[in-house]
Amino acid sequence: MNSKKIEIEVLEYTFTELNSVSQHLIEVAKENTKKSYAPYSNYSVGAAVLLENGEIISGSNQENAAYPSGLCAERTAIFYANAMYPDVAPKILAIAAFYNGNFVDEPISPCGSCRQVLLETETRYKKDMQILLYGENRIYLISSVKKLLPLAFNEQNLKK
Ligand code: THU
Repeated sequence: MNSKKIEIEVLEYTFTELNSVSQHLIEVAKENTKKSYAPYSNYSVGAAVLLENGEIISGSNQENAAYPSGLCAERTAIFYANAMYPDVAPKILAIAAFYNGNFVDEPISPCGSCRQVLLETETRYKKDMQILLYGENRIYLISSVKKLLPLAFNEQNLKK
């Protein structure tokens, strides 16, 4: 039996340590929590995607009375970006969450389905996408989606 360790690198920042582009994206993601439709969980998530053409695409979670029909903020943003600009790679995705009257203390973590979708986008455009996860106490920066989803199922698995 072999034991393998798979480690990922996460960079931890305070808000003021971030560059102005990242700070702005986080501000936009925080603002976008206000556009969330989350009457069932009351957990409002905002996303902001910076594209290579400089455009910033917004997203927020959109819930549904039939719970699984709702969609996370990351996927509303990334699908919209891909649909609007199919030829433009996303560079940075920032996420923030507002719950119980405050932005969450610890960095919000994208769910497994969002990681899978983000990985597809990163693979499709052959460009690493930085992920910024906002928390009041700390901000995580992960340099690519690959790191967020080790041992992922991907297009290679479908090759003959
Ligand atoms: N949610 C997101 O939008 N993004 C995440 O990364 C985690 C969870 C949403 C889904 C649902 O509307 C609510 O937050 C509670 O799970």
